[in-house]
Amino acid sequence: MPSTGPLLDTFGRIHRSLRVSVTDRCNLRCTYCMPEEATFLSGNQLLSRKQILQVVSAGVELGLTKIRLTGGEPLLRKDLVEIVGDLTQVEGIEDLSLTTNGILLTEFAKPLFLAGLQRLTISLDTLKEDTFHRLARRDGLARVLGGIEAALEAGFRETKLNAVILKGVNEDEIVPLAAYARERNITLRFIESMPIGADPWDRGAMVSGKEIQNTLEANWGPLTAVLGQNPHAPALDFQFADGRGKIGLIMSVTRPFCGQCDRLRLTADGKLRNCLFSLEETDLRNALETPNGPESLQVCFRKSVWGKWEGHEINTSRFLKPDRTMHSIGG
Ligand code: GTP
Ligand code: 5AD
Ligand code: SF4
Repeated sequence: MPSTGPLLDTFGRIHRSLRVSVTDRCNLRCTYCMPEEATFLSGNQLLSRKQILQVVSAGVELGLTKIRLTGGEPLLRKDLVEIVGDLTQVEGIEDLSLTTNGILLTEFAKPLFLAGLQRLTISLDTLKEDTFHRLARRDGLARVLGGIEAALEAGFRETKLNAVILKGVNEDEIVPLAAYARERNITLRFIESMPIGADPWDRGAMVSGKEIQNTLEANWGPLTAVLGQNPHAPALDFQFADGRGKIGLIMSVTRPFCGQCDRLRLTADGKLRNCLFSLEETDLRNALETPNGPESLQVCFRKSVWGKWEGHEINTSRFLKPDRTMHSIGG
């Protein structure tokens, strides 16, 4: 294991990106992400604002440049705006973004922007209230749509939308969702559903990126892959034939991007995960309590990355679902 230089794994991948979950709580209950009845961490199990800053700072010293705040729903965290402010002071972070379900954005978009958040990703799976309730097990579509408008007005460098499409639930909304994003000149990414929710995964309910592309092309003509894309990004971006706007496909299942993965994850309770689907995690609590001890934060980062496997095994019989579901890992 290297003791200097960037965060390298045994497959030659250098890690630049950390997704930081600030809470496992959520104000929705999306079926593909979490169970209806979830047990949440108690307040004293969460990393404090100071500890989050310590971990991120240690990672940035090792070459991380991209930080994304996630949850659960990160806007439920009371000191989120302050956490964003802290992170803007860390030299070396080039990209600071956040993933949210949008419910609380009307209130928080502007304060987050003013605190220094650069980019936002908002989940939007449907434009119909009854489908919203079916997917999220709660009401709230109007609030999300209001939140998106607030985000667009706040001044962020970029705002994107994420949609998970499921057969028999919202597959009829591929074109309306893409049209909604095009009208606002924002990129929407369609995501293949992954086996990381509470219910057993139904591969048959997944709508593949290819199927989505076909549906979009039947409506708008051929999509052309955008040139010069970031090879580490999960999404493949496409241009519409009329040149108006972009659309992304995140094909984690049918076109895994593990070979180019540069991501690590920090859970809200202080566990470092080297893969969304990891079965093992590195507990940072000891390192946080004795920052200069042999198990320092930087050693934990290096060990975690060095232990990273080649990629997920969703498409093999060896696949084992992690104990945690998406809401407690970080979206
Ligand atoms: P930027 O490029 O920084 O804008 O973000 P991103 O493209 O990484 O997208 P985002 O962080 O919004 O992630 C979008 C979705 O991609 C997530 O909600 C997951 O469904 C999926 N995803 C993100 N990271 C991973 C990953 O490491 N592995 C897998 N399999 N899926 C991921
Ligand atoms: N499959 C794919 N993406 C998922 N997300 C949550 N659960 C899943 C899943 N099972 C993504 C959604 C949401 C983000 C927080 O995490 O895109 O927008
Ligand atoms: Fe990276 Fe694991 Fe996601 Fe593959 S499944 S892209 S290795 S985090």
